[in-house]
Amino acid sequence: MRRIPLSRRMLLAGAGVAMAARRARAFNREIKIGRAWPEYDRTEEEALLGVLRSGKWGRIDGSRVAELERQYGALLGARHCVATANGTSALIAAMNAIDIGPGDEVLLPPYTFVASVNIILIQHALPVFVDSDRPTFQIDVRQLAARTTPQTKALIQVHLGGATAGLDASLKFCRERGIKLVEDACQAHLGEWRGKKVGTLGDCGTFSFQASKNLNSGEGGALVTNDEALFDRAWAFHGNGRARRITSATLSGWAMNGANLRLTEFQGALLLAQMTRLERQSQTRETNAAALTKYLKEIPGIHPQVIDEGCTRNAWHLYMLRYDPAAFAGLPRAGFLKALQAEGVSGSGGYTPLNREPFLRDVLQSRHYRKIYGDARLRRWHEENQCPQNDRLCEEAVWFTQDMLLGEPREMEYIAEAVRKIQKKAPELARQA
Ligand SMILES: Cc1ncc(COP(=O)(O)O)c(C=O)c1O
Repeated sequence: MRRIPLSRRMLLAGAGVAMAARRARAFNREIKIGRAWPEYDRTEEEALLGVLRSGKWGRIDGSRVAELERQYGALLGARHCVATANGTSALIAAMNAIDIGPGDEVLLPPYTFVASVNIILIQHALPVFVDSDRPTFQIDVRQLAARTTPQTKALIQVHLGGATAGLDASLKFCRERGIKLVEDACQAHLGEWRGKKVGTLGDCGTFSFQASKNLNSGEGGALVTNDEALFDRAWAFHGNGRARRITSATLSGWAMNGANLRLTEFQGALLLAQMTRLERQSQTRETNAAALTKYLKEIPGIHPQVIDEGCTRNAWHLYMLRYDPAAFAGLPRAGFLKALQAEGVSGSGGYTPLNREPFLRDVLQSRHYRKIYGDARLRRWHEENQCPQNDRLCEEAVWFTQDMLLGEPREMEYIAEAVRKIQKKAPELARQA
């Protein structure tokens, strides 16, 4: 949360001069962008104290995590939900539940958080990057076929920033070829595709409740699915392989291999409390994001993220735009971000190209990968690992975080006003850069 001065134009742009002047006095000629994150009050305090005093701190003894799974699954319209220690472990459970292992190839976008690729590498599977669609910031589903081989067993479609694109095409593509579709919805709580919650459309979906996320318990995650067999495997995997239901085949209780990926009762209780705020916060973000887009799209050289018509609800975890220095007298993006910061608006340049991370080269040259895939396949991987659109996207992106969208409508006007001001001063700023 940052305090910044109200400009004169900003004051006049409101619902009338007198009202704006009153507001300015009330704010002591200052405005804040966004809200302190996370929001909490007695509800969260009592929820946490309740767990503390119960003495039942783990899910094996308590009931909060099970209640969270019931409520979160119901909120999304998913038949099954298993809570996990974080979003990464929800994805690891997903990979094991759909049986991804050495020799398998997994498609994914290069414009995503590093966890999306790490969970493929943990399985010793081969990550295959599909270039980005710059306007939407999402995977370019038109390029799925070109990157698919007989070894392709899954697609991880990331709903980056809370939006999604081309999901009809990717669902059809995967269905026709027997490829599993895992929705990485770690940034997309309450996001929708054609009226259905994202995470519930593919074979399974994963969510993160890490501190920056729109639903937060510091750390935490969940996997949702409508497929009971997949759920049984994910459930077992998240609890060291213990079967959800004891059958004659699982007399010992161990149904499969697994790990301990369980969420604690404290996190379960905190999430139940935070969930009571989620819909209201989401609506505020939507209203503010719409206003911000209305203002910013009028500014030459600023291209707000295009939302696919099938994306009926964006979770707005990130507000993303593409910045064109040509419309700002050649001022590089770093200079633009610095100038924004000087106006009290914090933005970031977002991701760097994940497919070109040096650590990937190291992993793919390791003795395990050479043994599994052979030199010829790995050489071809390097030759084909080109995502030119994504390289451009990583250079032109500007992000604002979800907490900035929780502010008052006039704060969105202020952001646009700051961008206009920088554009006017751009020749001078570019000379100094
Ligand atoms: C797209 C994406 N996938 C996976 C993750 C991993 O989630 P976590 O940090 O909860 O492990 C994140 C978290 O930032 C994410 O943004």
